[in-house]
Amino acid sequence: CGIVGYIGHRQAYPVIIKGLTRLEYRGYDSAGLAIFDGEKINLCKTKGKVSDLEKKCDNTLKGTIGIGHTRWATHGVPNDVNSHPHYSNSGELVIIHNGIIENYDSLKQELISRGYTFHSDTDTEVLVNLIEEIQKTQELKLGKAVQVALNQVVGAYAIAVMDIKKPNEIIAARLGSPLAIGIGENEYFITSDASPFIEYTNNAIYLEDEEMAIIRLHKPLKIRKIKDDSLVTPDIQQLQLNLEQIEKGGYDHFMLKEIHEQPDVITDTFRGRLLPEQGIIRMAGIEDNLEKFLKADKITIAACGTSWHAALVAEYIIEEFARIPVEVEYASEFRYRNPIISENDILIAISQSGETADTLAAIKLAKERGAFVFGVCNVVGSSIARETHAGAYTHAGPEIGVASTKAFTTQITVLTLIALRLAKAKGTLSNSDYQMYLNEMGTIPAKVEEALKQNEEVLKIAQVYKDAPNCLYLGRGYNYPVALEGALKLKEISYIHAEGYPAAEMKHGPIALIDEHMPVVVVAQNQNHYDKIVSNVQEIKARNGKIIAVVTKGDTQVRDLADHVIEVPSISEALSPIITTIPLQLLSYHIAVLRNCNVDQPRNLAKSVTVE
Ligand code: G6P
Repeated sequence: CGIVGYIGHRQAYPVIIKGLTRLEYRGYDSAGLAIFDGEKINLCKTKGKVSDLEKKCDNTLKGTIGIGHTRWATHGVPNDVNSHPHYSNSGELVIIHNGIIENYDSLKQELISRGYTFHSDTDTEVLVNLIEEIQKTQELKLGKAVQVALNQVVGAYAIAVMDIKKPNEIIAARLGSPLAIGIGENEYFITSDASPFIEYTNNAIYLEDEEMAIIRLHKPLKIRKIKDDSLVTPDIQQLQLNLEQIEKGGYDHFMLKEIHEQPDVITDTFRGRLLPEQGIIRMAGIEDNLEKFLKADKITIAACGTSWHAALVAEYIIEEFARIPVEVEYASEFRYRNPIISENDILIAISQSGETADTLAAIKLAKERGAFVFGVCNVVGSSIARETHAGAYTHAGPEIGVASTKAFTTQITVLTLIALRLAKAKGTLSNSDYQMYLNEMGTIPAKVEEALKQNEEVLKIAQVYKDAPNCLYLGRGYNYPVALEGALKLKEISYIHAEGYPAAEMKHGPIALIDEHMPVVVVAQNQNHYDKIVSNVQEIKARNGKIIAVVTKGDTQVRDLADHVIEVPSISEALSPIITTIPLQLLSYHIAVLRNCNVDQPRNLAKSVTVE
């Protein structure tokens, strides 16, 4: 979910609406806001998107203090009643909440026995009434009551609360879900990330877990630890983000903009790190901890979603180049299965947002077991970036489209640099191979640019297959994870059922699905496994499947067999995933557009999943 609060001299309504629109990537099942007009706290909320909310409220809510929310449903279906904000029973308190209150049921029963009634199915309404009950029975001010309530809560949250008795105050708190506070001239912004306030101020504080902020107009901000009430000195940061980075820049969708940004952001990822002329890769997080990597018994990589696919590519590359055993884990599985990991091991956590709850939990577990934890994150200053011992940012810039594109290719870029650096230190690659890979890395941005030129070709293919109910994606070796990622992209944004498979594994099951209606996307680079993949293509052809092949420029053999080919520039197979992914991103994009799907905000998904 996304949170926006405002307290200052502007009308809160437009600030909150605009802010919520920027945060819609975090969830868009429903939206709502509450604005204090000096006497009453007026509330407007609805199922649907922020645009639906705007239609419903019609700018009628006046006041300079307010809170708003865009929701990704956990407890209770997305409907008007379950939308945030939620009033307390007396109507005096209003809350917005991102996260899950795990012990909500016992708290709810207790409150019911004290006469409270509930209008929604949410855990959030339990929390706001708990605060009210504590305020009343213990005669506490808002901040104190919130603190006492949060000490009774098990779960994760980022919250903002207003109280009709405190017209110039908002209380915010976090445990496990991100919360930033933008500090302007006589105004504060309370938000899930910095994007809602970047046009007003670059000064921000990120709350840490178990911290709460007491935000009052014309008064300095106070931060306290929720557990022991101690005061924390605010660490005000200067953000580098600018408005242009979070707008569409002439493209129809963020996803398309982000796909086209890849040559530039990969260049940014290389900056200062890849120095082919000097034969050097320089990454501070690795240099400072080189011994640990060299002594490691094994590297475990934990991640979710697309980041997990980047981990699979990294497994192949690190094992091949640096000869260190690598295991790839879904963070959600790793955290709950008593994994074998100890002081001699390294955990690499990959996360675009740096906020994914399961990945964070995997990090905490690995740290408890004494492992060294290295983060590969995109969002600077995110929870995972702070929770890890060291790390490397991907520098992809803000990724707004829910389907991840540039984050994926920059993750692979960083992990390849790491693999090469370790290979150099271990001597597991010959000098000539090492230098060749460095040189080739340098050519990647231009090759991605060239791959993007296939856009028209890909659009034509999309027109042919836009109504397919199913689609199979196949790849071998380094391009097996590319097949998985291609299938994930298609299903995420076009709702076509798609499966990715290692090409040779096809004959152990998916081949049963192949007939003249089944499109099969094959990543067929003419390198190590070329003959094998040609055989796989023939097996599909023999069953009348429709073949869309991503081939190396100049390929003839697969071209003769395939129904459609998309050419990408040649590069060593180990480095090819960054290139071969590009047409698959474009294919899913065009199919989704042709099916009139909401490309940037596909149904049921959220970009940043801060619940487990
Ligand atoms: C969500 C997003 C995916 C993303 C995954 C992991 O499911 O919709 O696009 O790959 O979370 O997110 P992370 O921020 O940790 O990379």
